[in-house]
Amino acid sequence: MRTFTLIGLAAGLASTVSAACSAALKIDDFSKWSSNTNSLGEWTSDDGSMTTISATGGVLSFKPKSGSYFYETFACQAASTNGYNSVQFSVKGPSGGSLTLEIQTKTSCSATAYTSKYFTVSSLTGSTQTITVPLSSFSGANANAITAFVWSGFSSTTATWQLSSIQFGCGSSGGASSTSKPASSSVIPASSTSVKPSTSSVPTSVVVQSTSKPASTTSAPPSTLVTSTIPSGSCTPLLVDDWTSQSRLTFLFYNAMLEPTSDDGTMTSLVVGSPSANRVTLTPKGTDSYFYSQTGCLNAKNIYGGLSLRVKAPAGTTFSIQLESSSTCEVGKTVQVVQTTSQLGWTFDGTEKVYTIPFSKYTNLDTSKIVTIFFTGFTKAVSFGPLAFYCGTTGSEYIVTTTTPPAGPSSTVAAPTGTAAALVIDKFASKDSNALGFWHGGDDGMGLTWGSSKLTIKSTDSDYSFYTQVSGSCSDFSKYKDSYLHIAYSGTTAFSVALQQHNSGCNENVSPFPETWDSLEASRYAANGHIYMPMNHFNINLVRTIGIAIKGFYKTDTVALSLVEIVPSVPTGFIIPNKLESGDLVFACKRPNSFAFAIDDGDPTMAQQVMQIIKSENIKVTFFTVGAPLLDSSTNLTNVYREMQSQGHQIALHSYTHPKMEGLPDYASIDWEYNEDIKAVQKQLNGLHTPYFRPPFGTEGARMRQRLALALGEKPTITMWSVDVEDWLWAETNTPEEQLKAFQRDVDKGGSLVVMHYLYPSTVSYLKQFIQIAKATGKQLMRVDQCMMDPNAPPL
Ligand SMILES: *[C@@H]1O[C@H](CO)[C@@H](O)[C@H](O)[C@H]1NC(C)=O
Repeated sequence: MRTFTLIGLAAGLASTVSAACSAALKIDDFSKWSSNTNSLGEWTSDDGSMTTISATGGVLSFKPKSGSYFYETFACQAASTNGYNSVQFSVKGPSGGSLTLEIQTKTSCSATAYTSKYFTVSSLTGSTQTITVPLSSFSGANANAITAFVWSGFSSTTATWQLSSIQFGCGSSGGASSTSKPASSSVIPASSTSVKPSTSSVPTSVVVQSTSKPASTTSAPPSTLVTSTIPSGSCTPLLVDDWTSQSRLTFLFYNAMLEPTSDDGTMTSLVVGSPSANRVTLTPKGTDSYFYSQTGCLNAKNIYGGLSLRVKAPAGTTFSIQLESSSTCEVGKTVQVVQTTSQLGWTFDGTEKVYTIPFSKYTNLDTSKIVTIFFTGFTKAVSFGPLAFYCGTTGSEYIVTTTTPPAGPSSTVAAPTGTAAALVIDKFASKDSNALGFWHGGDDGMGLTWGSSKLTIKSTDSDYSFYTQVSGSCSDFSKYKDSYLHIAYSGTTAFSVALQQHNSGCNENVSPFPETWDSLEASRYAANGHIYMPMNHFNINLVRTIGIAIKGFYKTDTVALSLVEIVPSVPTGFIIPNKLESGDLVFACKRPNSFAFAIDDGDPTMAQQVMQIIKSENIKVTFFTVGAPLLDSSTNLTNVYREMQSQGHQIALHSYTHPKMEGLPDYASIDWEYNEDIKAVQKQLNGLHTPYFRPPFGTEGARMRQRLALALGEKPTITMWSVDVEDWLWAETNTPEEQLKAFQRDVDKGGSLVVMHYLYPSTVSYLKQFIQIAKATGKQLMRVDQCMMDPNAPPL
């Protein structure tokens, strides 16, 4: 019964991942070959290793000897942070030929030693071809501290080879490589050790190895929590990361300070929420694996005495913690001071304890300019709790403030007795239909196990639903308004129960279908294997009831259902909680003959083109924007949306880091997404406060609705869609025109509220046609708030 797509754009984050990179970074176009200088102003040479070498018209031509090489150096490039994900170059070599590309990287830009990793480019065609090698292909290389590339291992010494257009690539083009195969680690050109890239113009750095002696074994590790002596004044601990959001950490690469953080793919995994809330488990591939968190250029001097965090690690685990400061506040020019866990006196026994990283152990660190915290050398997997700077000289733990969920009802309401007779809806006796003879079933991917008069559900995705219908069309349930939905269950209650409402024509071929639903949190209404929900807590038109959905699972624990029915009363003593505000869930415009484009943000580089098209079509639209990238000035999105605001478009909320909101584990992580987003939008967009929210991926459930209402302090409009251009499905295929067909199809079915993203050139290229198709319906195009007849919307 998934007749419209609830799973939104899987690639919705792609734009923000590469947000910092809008264009390739040219390394060399060989215009300055005669002075051995590349486009980045740095040294390039073959050190006389070739038989012949020369450059004209942007192309380097050479005839190698066995052992010849050619290299490009540059100031240490933090490629990942800067959004570059590949190295690209054009090459012409003999048909079937091959060469080896070497990358030289350091543990960080200020380290002196570099290590080399290799990649073989084979099966050359004999013509000029463009090669894209994803940086991730160089297994174990630190893509955040790249200093040189070296070409060598040329398969032919008689052919004339050509190289041109060497650059760092970004965006999706950096991810694909059709002609290259990763080299096995044994392919190491003999020449590699003789390559000595010029380091003269690489930023100078001072490496200071701390000389502090390991703490004597008699000094107890700081395993017990001590109370901080907070200096007089107003110091509060400064949180670096509380590990609340997997997407913040691994898609957007922001810590709680909104500074870059990443493992650059060096870890096997990085899992937020494991082993418990506000924890991250780091599983290293090897001792080269690392994880860093930047801190801006923090002045901690005379304010913070160090950092603290909880760590859980098996006995015998060691790793090192490097703190970096920079007199110029540049991540590439740092003083690094390393302390190993043994030097810090840390020991582990498999249980979680609080540990401190006191600056007093970091001689020569300039605590007035701290730029990076860098962890490496892990001998085993570890988990970290909240990482924070502590006030004063005595280490103390950062306590995460959590919003305590109401344990069951937060207040209760009377349980009146209905007058309608009981109605058994589902006894799970048959897989094909329920007790009313209507369809029941789950979304593809949902784990359903049918037992004897029992259904066990295991859902690994908050998008999945199980449905049981009460009608093939509209069923008038108004007689049950004082009755209760009763569900007998065993197992988890970490899901929502939704009651769905049909469209006004009771016609499933008209979009939207369903028209809306309301979701209640199972756990609030559950006790001892029974859920009783007052029918009047479902804010829908009961006259057009279609069915019930069990959805929005936020744990993978199973629930077994044995009965779904409507009953006139609850057992004596059963406590009914108050109804919480859950907002309006809208799929279509409410104003007669209106139509709204609601566009989710995407690739900042396409924003100008989108604005131009909308301007030339003279319509007003609504943009749903993700909060975190607004705060990243390199995306330019704040300027873009301010301009759109000034042109009369509506700007609205789309979460802070784009997770599936209902899939988040607890209220605290849901609240964080909303509160940070609301703050970001308010700060960046002229104090804007709006109740319009579009759920990332269209993922909906009771918790995300109720927490949104709380965070906003008003009733939200949760804006779904009834016209989907399906850009997430078609934009990058060889039939991108399917987007036009999808748009036309949904418009023909009566849809009036669009979802699309400006992530792909093909989607943007159809925008004018989308608008013209919408105009051809005779409907009036407007902002979402206008089409909802919101009294606060600007006049038409
Ligand atoms: C940033 O956006 C503003 C507003 O649309 C635009 O005028 C400006 O050219 C953009 N800047 C860049 C560097 O793209």
